[in-house]
Amino acid sequence: MTGRSATSEVAKGLIKNMDYKDRQKYVDALKKQLELNIFNHSLALEACMGGLFDYFIANGGLTDLEPKKEEWMLAGLLHDIDFSGEFKPTHPQKTLEALAKYGLTISETVHNIIKAHAPDLTGRKPQNKAEWSIFCADSLTGLIMAVAFVYPSRKLADVKLSSVVKRLLKEPKFAAGTRREEIKMCVNPEGLNLPIEKFVEICLNSMKETSENIGL
Ligand SMILES: [Fe+2]
Repeated sequence: MTGRSATSEVAKGLIKNMDYKDRQKYVDALKKQLELNIFNHSLALEACMGGLFDYFIANGGLTDLEPKKEEWMLAGLLHDIDFSGEFKPTHPQKTLEALAKYGLTISETVHNIIKAHAPDLTGRKPQNKAEWSIFCADSLTGLIMAVAFVYPSRKLADVKLSSVVKRLLKEPKFAAGTRREEIKMCVNPEGLNLPIEKFVEICLNSMKETSENIGL
């Protein structure tokens, strides 16, 4: 598989501080459109998408056909923008309409990634690593947050990888709404091809990097 070159966005140190083009405009729209818990979940998934991209780049696992890092992250950020108000009953099919309320648009590539987070509702099955990442990580962010909530400190910084993995694999009643089967599909060789523990580790560490922004 052809990896991206060492002059990638990662090597240049871009995006770690989440400053990709027009991000603030999208964040402002999300803030107005979403309840706080969904807004925080959106920031968490944005971070996971960035962290997964970085992991694959560092490990030579992305072809040049994959979307750019900012497309991965923007899709994570915006995937639930229509999970509110008049759009909620038809989520996630009104992404473009919700964005249009704020005069915003997205590329078809970003829209496809967003669609892939809910194949049953959109008909878009994951077709690249960006799309598999959003599909597998969406529900994991909620599980990780739920684990943080049971720690006395309620801080992501204190959450141990082993404790998330244990609750994912051995405690189905914990955060029972978690779509565990989707998370576990990270092992699919045609998708992410990552062991569950590695996948959780990448997402947990990515969320820790943005913990201040999501109040954990
Ligand atoms: Fe979501």
